[in-house]
Amino acid sequence: MILLDGKKISAQIKSEIASSVAGMEKTGHKIPHLAAIIVGSDGASETYVAHKVKACEQVGFRSTLVRLTEKVQQELLLEKIDEINENADIDGVIVQLPLPAHISEEKVIERIKVEKDVDGFHPVNVGRLVINQPAYISATPNGIIELIKRYDIETSGKHCVILGRSNIVGKPMAVLMARKGYPGDATVTVCHSRTKDIHEVCRQADILIVAMGKAEFVTGDMVKDGAVVIDVGITRVKSVNTRSGWKLMGDVKFDEVALKCSYITPVPGGVGPMTIASLLNNTMKAAKKEIYG
Ligand code: GUN
Repeated sequence: MILLDGKKISAQIKSEIASSVAGMEKTGHKIPHLAAIIVGSDGASETYVAHKVKACEQVGFRSTLVRLTEKVQQELLLEKIDEINENADIDGVIVQLPLPAHISEEKVIERIKVEKDVDGFHPVNVGRLVINQPAYISATPNGIIELIKRYDIETSGKHCVILGRSNIVGKPMAVLMARKGYPGDATVTVCHSRTKDIHEVCRQADILIVAMGKAEFVTGDMVKDGAVVIDVGITRVKSVNTRSGWKLMGDVKFDEVALKCSYITPVPGGVGPMTIASLLNNTMKAAKKEIYG
């Protein structure tokens, strides 16, 4: 079994990006600048956004963090997005999800300028991905694709089973694995809460990508010998054994599954760091105007 070391690959990507930034600085180019908006103070969201801001610092990007209270009116959030859309120094913007119930995620995402949508959540970017036009691609699926590439994992003709059909992970992941070329050319099955005999479908997977948010859902008996297993789950559970008081659990029962598969991502240190690296990549593309010219 080979560990898909997202932490190591993400560090490599960050160092590649840092070199590019140094080159941009030397040649008098504007430094890439990411704006992140966080609404409220949800513990997990705080952690993710802090990681994103720190990653910007590490590679030499500028970052702006906008904090809004849990009770902020939707209109005010939309105005903030307009302001960032119009700010020529800011290349990319993300609004950390989930948002409080009184705010429409759909309206918020649609307000972001397509050219600055480095999360790849805007319907135009999602649509362009589906028809294989240049687009910002959602960071988590794109990070998984990069991990598959860097470990040279075969995907052509493989049966890829995806557990979860979210807009952020499951759906774009299915499109990416099914599209022509490498990584891709896989036969894709998307499973969800209504899938019949999900255990049996999982056992047919050459590549199993799990994004359900159910801690340790996938057990050893659900995995075919030699399968590639990618765990997107991160459930935070209280723990007395860690300094932070929390520990992260994946959707895969690692100890059981690791005995059977050919490759597996750990949690933490697998998909999570790759998501951040992808966001930085998208921000670099935005700064270089690579997608929309
Ligand atoms: N919430 C969970 N994942 C993400 C992500 O990739 N981007 C944003 N903005 N919010 C999220």
